[in-house]
Amino acid sequence: MSRYNAIIQEDVASIVQELATPLRVLSGTTLLVTGGGGFLCSYFLDTVAHWNDTSGLSPCRMVCLDNLASGLPQRLAHLTKRSDFRLVRYDVSQPLALNESITWIIHGASIASPIVYRRLPIETMEVNANGTRHLLDVARQRRSRSMLYLSSSEIYGDPTAEWVPTPETYRGNVSCIGPRACYDESKRMGETWCWVYFRQHGVPVKIVRPFNVYGPGQRLDDGRIIPDLVSVGASFRIWSVRCWIKSRLCCSAMARPRGLFATCVMPSVPCG
Ligand SMILES: NC(=O)c1ccc[n+]([C@@H]2O[C@H](COP(=O)([O-])OP(=O)(O)OC[C@H]3O[C@@H](n4cnc5c(N)ncnc54)[C@H](O)[C@@H]3O)[C@@H](O)[C@H]2O)c1
Repeated sequence: MSRYNAIIQEDVASIVQELATPLRVLSGTTLLVTGGGGFLCSYFLDTVAHWNDTSGLSPCRMVCLDNLASGLPQRLAHLTKRSDFRLVRYDVSQPLALNESITWIIHGASIASPIVYRRLPIETMEVNANGTRHLLDVARQRRSRSMLYLSSSEIYGDPTAEWVPTPETYRGNVSCIGPRACYDESKRMGETWCWVYFRQHGVPVKIVRPFNVYGPGQRLDDGRIIPDLVSVGASFRIWSVRCWIKSRLCCSAMARPRGLFATCVMPSVPCG
Protein backbone atom coordinates (compact mmCIF):
# COMPACT_ATOMS: atom_id res chain seq x y z
CA MET A 1 0.00 0.00 0.00
CA SER A 2 1.31 3.46 -0.92
CA ARG A 3 2.39 5.75 1.92
CA TYR A 4 1.73 8.84 -0.17
CA ASN A 5 -1.17 9.98 1.94
CA ALA A 6 -3.23 13.18 1.96
CA ILE A 7 -0.99 14.90 4.54
CA ILE A 8 2.18 14.29 2.54
CA GLN A 9 0.43 15.47 -0.62
CA GLU A 10 -0.60 18.66 1.13
CA ASP A 11 2.94 19.23 2.47
CA VAL A 12 4.47 18.63 -0.94
CA ALA A 13 2.05 21.02 -2.67
CA SER A 14 2.88 23.67 -0.10
CA ILE A 15 6.66 23.21 -0.57
CA VAL A 16 6.29 23.49 -4.35
CA GLN A 17 4.18 26.61 -4.01
CA GLU A 18 6.60 28.31 -1.63
CA LEU A 19 9.73 27.41 -3.62
CA ALA A 20 8.18 28.06 -7.03
CA THR A 21 10.92 30.46 -8.12
CA PRO A 22 14.08 28.60 -6.93
CA LEU A 23 12.74 25.27 -8.20
CA ARG A 24 12.60 26.56 -11.78
CA VAL A 25 16.29 25.59 -12.10
CA LEU A 26 15.17 21.94 -12.05
CA SER A 27 13.71 22.29 -15.52
CA GLY A 28 15.22 19.75 -17.93
CA THR A 29 17.82 18.57 -15.40
CA THR A 30 18.48 15.26 -13.61
CA LEU A 31 18.33 14.77 -9.85
CA LEU A 32 20.02 11.77 -8.23
CA VAL A 33 18.65 10.95 -4.79
CA THR A 34 20.27 8.27 -2.65
CA GLY A 35 18.12 6.82 0.11
CA GLY A 36 14.96 7.85 -1.75
CA GLY A 37 13.05 4.97 -0.15
CA GLY A 38 13.66 6.60 3.22
CA PHE A 39 11.50 8.97 5.18
CA LEU A 40 13.21 12.28 4.35
CA CYS A 41 14.40 11.64 0.80
CA SER A 42 11.05 10.31 -0.37
CA TYR A 43 9.81 13.84 0.34
CA PHE A 44 12.29 15.24 -2.19
CA LEU A 45 11.11 12.82 -4.85
CA ASP A 46 7.45 13.59 -4.15
CA THR A 47 8.22 17.29 -4.30
CA VAL A 48 9.93 17.02 -7.68
CA ALA A 49 7.15 14.77 -9.02
CA HIS A 50 4.57 17.36 -7.99
CA TRP A 51 6.69 20.15 -9.45
CA ASN A 52 6.94 18.22 -12.74
CA ASP A 53 3.16 17.83 -12.80
CA THR A 54 2.35 21.44 -12.06
CA SER A 55 5.18 23.75 -13.20
CA GLY A 56 4.48 23.63 -16.94
CA LEU A 57 8.26 23.44 -17.52
CA SER A 58 10.40 20.58 -18.85
CA PRO A 59 10.38 17.85 -16.22
CA CYS A 60 13.29 17.02 -13.95
CA ARG A 61 14.34 13.39 -14.30
CA MET A 62 14.64 11.58 -10.98
CA VAL A 63 17.04 8.71 -10.34
CA CYS A 64 16.69 7.04 -6.95
CA LEU A 65 19.41 4.76 -5.59
CA ASP A 66 18.43 2.73 -2.55
CA ASN A 67 19.21 -0.79 -1.39
CA LEU A 68 16.12 -0.63 0.85
CA ALA A 69 18.18 -1.64 3.88
CA SER A 70 15.79 0.37 6.01
CA GLY A 71 13.67 2.17 3.43
CA LEU A 72 10.20 1.15 2.37
CA PRO A 73 9.12 0.33 -1.20
CA GLN A 74 5.65 1.65 -0.24
CA ARG A 75 7.11 5.15 -0.16
CA LEU A 76 7.97 4.82 -3.85
CA ALA A 77 5.10 2.67 -5.12
CA HIS A 78 3.15 5.63 -6.56
CA LEU A 79 6.24 6.85 -8.47
CA THR A 80 7.42 3.66 -10.13
CA LYS A 81 5.17 3.92 -13.23
CA ARG A 82 6.15 7.51 -13.96
CA SER A 83 8.36 8.14 -16.99
CA ASP A 84 10.34 10.80 -15.08
CA PHE A 85 11.32 8.39 -12.28
CA ARG A 86 13.79 5.49 -12.09
CA LEU A 87 14.49 3.34 -9.05
CA VAL A 88 17.79 1.49 -8.96
CA ARG A 89 18.27 -0.94 -6.10
CA TYR A 90 21.91 -0.37 -5.32
CA ASP A 91 24.25 -0.29 -2.36
CA VAL A 92 25.98 3.09 -2.65
CA SER A 93 28.84 1.84 -0.46
CA GLN A 94 30.00 0.24 -3.71
CA PRO A 95 31.60 2.37 -6.46
CA LEU A 96 29.10 3.91 -8.85
CA ALA A 97 29.38 3.92 -12.63
CA LEU A 98 26.87 6.41 -14.00
CA ASN A 99 27.30 7.56 -17.57
CA GLU A 100 24.37 9.92 -17.74
CA SER A 101 24.29 13.59 -16.87
CA ILE A 102 23.60 14.17 -13.17
CA THR A 103 22.82 17.80 -12.41
CA TRP A 104 21.90 17.57 -8.75
CA ILE A 105 22.69 15.01 -6.06
CA ILE A 106 20.96 14.61 -2.74
CA HIS A 107 22.87 12.01 -0.73
CA GLY A 108 20.62 10.82 2.06
CA ALA A 109 21.38 7.09 2.01
CA SER A 110 22.40 5.98 5.45
CA ILE A 111 21.45 3.60 8.17
CA ALA A 112 19.95 6.17 10.50
CA SER A 113 17.87 4.03 12.82
CA PRO A 114 19.66 3.37 16.13
CA ILE A 115 18.18 -0.13 16.20
CA VAL A 116 19.52 -0.95 12.75
CA TYR A 117 22.94 0.71 13.11
CA ARG A 118 23.59 -1.19 16.30
CA ARG A 119 22.88 -4.38 14.33
CA LEU A 120 24.76 -3.31 11.18
CA PRO A 121 27.65 -1.09 12.32
CA ILE A 122 29.97 -1.96 9.44
CA GLU A 123 27.31 -1.27 6.78
CA THR A 124 26.57 2.00 8.58
CA MET A 125 30.18 3.11 8.46
CA GLU A 126 30.51 2.03 4.85
CA VAL A 127 27.53 3.96 3.55
CA ASN A 128 28.35 7.14 5.49
CA ALA A 129 32.06 7.20 4.68
CA ASN A 130 32.66 5.19 1.45
CA GLY A 131 29.19 5.93 0.07
CA THR A 132 29.72 9.65 0.49
CA ARG A 133 33.05 9.46 -1.30
CA HIS A 134 31.47 7.56 -4.20
CA LEU A 135 28.78 10.21 -4.56
CA LEU A 136 31.42 12.94 -4.49
CA ASP A 137 33.18 11.11 -7.33
CA VAL A 138 29.93 11.09 -9.29
CA ALA A 139 29.48 14.82 -8.65
CA ARG A 140 33.03 15.46 -9.80
CA GLN A 141 32.92 13.25 -12.90
CA ARG A 142 29.45 14.38 -14.00
CA ARG A 143 30.20 18.03 -13.16
CA SER A 144 27.05 18.26 -11.08
CA ARG A 145 25.84 21.72 -10.14
CA SER A 146 25.28 20.78 -6.51
CA MET A 147 25.54 17.89 -4.10
CA LEU A 148 23.69 18.02 -0.81
CA TYR A 149 25.01 15.71 1.91
CA LEU A 150 22.65 14.86 4.73
CA SER A 151 24.95 14.60 7.70
CA SER A 152 23.53 14.63 11.23
CA SER A 153 23.38 16.63 14.43
CA GLU A 154 24.99 13.51 15.92
CA ILE A 155 28.34 14.82 14.71
CA TYR A 156 28.16 17.04 17.82
CA GLY A 157 27.91 13.95 20.07
CA ASP A 158 26.89 14.91 23.57
CA PRO A 159 27.36 18.66 23.95
CA THR A 160 27.87 19.80 27.50
CA ALA A 161 25.20 22.08 29.01
CA GLU A 162 26.85 25.34 27.95
CA TRP A 163 26.70 24.18 24.32
CA VAL A 164 22.93 23.64 24.30
CA PRO A 165 21.46 24.93 22.06
CA THR A 166 24.37 23.92 19.88
CA PRO A 167 25.94 26.41 17.44
CA GLU A 168 27.30 25.26 14.09
CA THR A 169 30.81 26.16 15.24
CA TYR A 170 30.77 23.59 18.06
CA ARG A 171 33.30 20.88 17.24
CA GLY A 172 31.69 18.01 19.07
CA ASN A 173 32.05 15.78 22.05
CA VAL A 174 31.96 12.40 20.40
CA SER A 175 33.10 8.97 21.51
CA CYS A 176 34.92 6.91 18.89
CA ILE A 177 33.90 3.69 20.64
CA GLY A 178 30.55 2.55 21.95
CA PRO A 179 27.20 1.72 20.37
CA ARG A 180 26.64 5.07 18.62
CA ALA A 181 30.18 5.54 17.35
CA CYS A 182 29.61 3.77 14.01
CA TYR A 183 26.99 6.37 13.08
CA ASP A 184 28.41 9.53 14.66
CA GLU A 185 32.01 9.01 13.60
CA SER A 186 31.20 7.92 10.05
CA LYS A 187 28.95 10.95 9.58
CA ARG A 188 31.92 13.05 10.67
CA MET A 189 34.11 11.22 8.16
CA GLY A 190 31.46 11.81 5.48
CA GLU A 191 31.66 15.54 6.21
CA THR A 192 35.45 15.43 5.96
CA TRP A 193 35.22 13.75 2.55
CA CYS A 194 32.89 16.56 1.46
CA TRP A 195 35.18 19.26 2.74
CA VAL A 196 38.26 17.72 1.08
CA TYR A 197 36.50 17.28 -2.30
CA PHE A 198 35.25 20.84 -2.09
CA ARG A 199 38.73 22.22 -1.33
CA GLN A 200 40.75 19.95 -3.61
CA HIS A 201 38.43 19.35 -6.55
CA GLY A 202 35.97 22.23 -6.29
CA VAL A 203 32.98 19.90 -5.98
CA PRO A 204 30.02 22.15 -5.10
CA VAL A 205 28.93 20.22 -2.05
CA LYS A 206 26.75 21.44 0.80
CA ILE A 207 26.49 19.79 4.18
CA VAL A 208 23.36 19.93 6.30
CA ARG A 209 23.03 18.51 9.80
CA PRO A 210 19.40 17.61 10.43
CA PHE A 211 18.40 17.38 14.06
CA ASN A 212 15.28 15.35 14.80
CA VAL A 213 12.97 15.47 11.84
CA TYR A 214 9.61 13.77 12.25
CA GLY A 215 6.47 13.54 10.22
CA PRO A 216 4.02 11.44 8.24
CA GLY A 217 5.46 8.37 6.54
CA GLN A 218 8.13 7.85 9.20
CA ARG A 219 8.53 4.28 10.43
CA LEU A 220 7.29 3.83 13.97
CA ASP A 221 9.71 0.97 14.62
CA ASP A 222 13.08 2.56 13.87
CA GLY A 223 13.98 3.55 17.39
CA ARG A 224 14.09 7.32 17.00
CA ILE A 225 12.57 9.40 19.72
CA ILE A 226 9.52 11.00 18.11
CA PRO A 227 8.26 7.77 16.45
CA ASP A 228 8.93 5.98 19.75
CA LEU A 229 6.78 8.47 21.60
CA VAL A 230 4.03 8.33 18.99
CA SER A 231 4.03 4.55 19.03
CA VAL A 232 3.50 4.37 22.79
CA GLY A 233 0.48 6.65 22.36
CA ALA A 234 -0.89 9.43 24.50
CA SER A 235 0.08 7.76 27.74
CA PHE A 236 3.74 8.74 27.60
CA ARG A 237 5.08 10.92 30.35
CA ILE A 238 5.02 14.53 29.27
CA TRP A 239 7.78 15.62 31.61
CA SER A 240 10.41 13.39 30.10
CA VAL A 241 9.52 14.60 26.61
CA ARG A 242 9.86 18.21 27.70
CA CYS A 243 13.29 17.54 29.20
CA TRP A 244 14.44 15.84 26.04
CA ILE A 245 13.05 18.47 23.69
CA LYS A 246 14.77 21.22 25.68
CA SER A 247 18.14 19.65 24.95
CA ARG A 248 17.51 18.62 21.32
CA LEU A 249 16.06 20.45 18.37
CA CYS A 250 13.12 18.92 16.56
CA CYS A 251 11.70 19.85 13.20
CA SER A 252 8.64 18.74 11.29
CA ALA A 253 9.13 16.94 7.98
CA MET A 254 7.41 19.69 6.08
CA ALA A 255 9.73 22.44 7.27
CA ARG A 256 12.87 20.42 6.73
CA PRO A 257 12.66 19.37 3.02
CA ARG A 258 11.69 22.93 2.19
CA GLY A 259 14.93 24.27 3.68
CA LEU A 260 17.01 21.41 2.31
CA PHE A 261 15.71 21.87 -1.20
CA ALA A 262 16.42 25.56 -1.10
CA THR A 263 19.95 24.74 0.12
CA CYS A 264 20.47 22.25 -2.71
CA VAL A 265 19.65 24.63 -5.54
CA MET A 266 21.43 27.70 -4.13
CA PRO A 267 25.13 28.44 -4.83
CA SER A 268 27.72 27.12 -2.33
CA VAL A 269 29.17 29.42 0.31
CA PRO A 270 32.76 28.44 1.14
CA CYS A 271 33.58 27.88 4.81
CA GLY A 272 36.34 26.33 6.87
N1 LIG B 1 15.25 12.01 10.14
C1 LIG B 1 16.09 12.64 10.95
O1 LIG B 1 15.69 13.17 11.98
C2 LIG B 1 17.56 12.74 10.62
C3 LIG B 1 18.40 13.37 11.57
C4 LIG B 1 19.76 13.48 11.27
C5 LIG B 1 20.26 13.00 10.07
N2 LIG B 1 19.42 12.39 9.19
C6 LIG B 1 20.03 11.88 7.95
O2 LIG B 1 19.16 12.14 6.86
C7 LIG B 1 19.19 11.03 5.95
C8 LIG B 1 17.79 10.48 5.76
O3 LIG B 1 17.27 10.10 7.05
P1 LIG B 1 15.89 9.37 7.19
O4 LIG B 1 15.33 9.73 8.52
O5 LIG B 1 15.05 9.60 6.00
O6 LIG B 1 16.38 7.84 7.26
P2 LIG B 1 15.73 6.53 6.60
O7 LIG B 1 16.29 5.37 7.34
O8 LIG B 1 14.26 6.66 6.54
O9 LIG B 1 16.31 6.56 5.11
C9 LIG B 1 17.61 6.16 4.76
C10 LIG B 1 17.54 5.43 3.43
O10 LIG B 1 18.87 5.06 3.04
C11 LIG B 1 18.81 3.73 2.50
N3 LIG B 1 20.14 3.11 2.59
C12 LIG B 1 20.81 2.70 3.71
N4 LIG B 1 21.99 2.18 3.38
C13 LIG B 1 22.09 2.25 2.02
C14 LIG B 1 23.09 1.88 1.08
N5 LIG B 1 24.25 1.33 1.47
N6 LIG B 1 22.85 2.09 -0.24
C15 LIG B 1 21.70 2.65 -0.65
N7 LIG B 1 20.70 3.03 0.19
C16 LIG B 1 20.91 2.84 1.52
C17 LIG B 1 17.77 3.02 3.35
O11 LIG B 1 17.25 1.87 2.72
C18 LIG B 1 16.73 4.14 3.51
O12 LIG B 1 15.79 4.11 2.44
C19 LIG B 1 20.17 10.01 6.54
O13 LIG B 1 21.44 10.22 5.97
C20 LIG B 1 20.21 10.37 8.00
O14 LIG B 1 21.42 10.00 8.61
C21 LIG B 1 18.09 12.25 9.44
